[in-house]
Amino acid sequence: MSDNKKRLAVFCSGTGSNFKALFHAIIERELPAEIVLCLSNRAQCGAMDFAREYGIEAIHLSEKQFATHDEFALAMLDALRERQIDMILLAGYLRKIPDAVVAAYAEKIVNIHPALLPQFGGHGMYGMRVHEAVIASGETRSGATVHFVNEEYDKGRIIMQNHVPVLPGDTAETLAERVLRCEHRLYPAALEKLLAEQP
Ligand code: GAR
Repeated sequence: MSDNKKRLAVFCSGTGSNFKALFHAIIERELPAEIVLCLSNRAQCGAMDFAREYGIEAIHLSEKQFATHDEFALAMLDALRERQIDMILLAGYLRKIPDAVVAAYAEKIVNIHPALLPQFGGHGMYGMRVHEAVIASGETRSGATVHFVNEEYDKGRIIMQNHVPVLPGDTAETLAERVLRCEHRLYPAALEKLLAEQP
């Protein structure tokens, strides 16, 4: 690994299709970064399988493994520091990042959200619930947002957005598929922008 490559951790809870899109984009676009860690609150999921298949270290870290929230936060921080992680990319990670980790990695933690923030974000708004809410609202546009993570759900500074139409007859599932395809283009583009801006 060359010295100026950023060491990335990707946090996931599920399929990990955004993780895969990021991984392939880094290689194909020769971005100055390397995913060195996949961290998940689930021992088994698509993202963890992908990491193991591609020789990326996969760590299962769940709050349930610890007596207190502080111990959990400390373990997460230790795991990141031991591996000299420069930046954390949340890719379908459905847990809140402990405040101590957010403070230690200010503007170094990035999330992708499957809607046009600041709308349709916040606590409990993840996955299919977001698309159900968009359809129920009658909006004709949705999309995806890449943003920095702060102490509040989906409230950090927006880095990049892209939109897709909500079509007549869309269900949450058909909209989710369209938004996910948009995410797979947006997240690598946002990472590329961030890396270009990094010292
Ligand atoms: C993605 O749509 C992502 O935006 C969403 O979970 C999905 C994960 O898919 N994240 C959130 O809703 C966070 N609030 P993936 O595991 O296939 O990347």
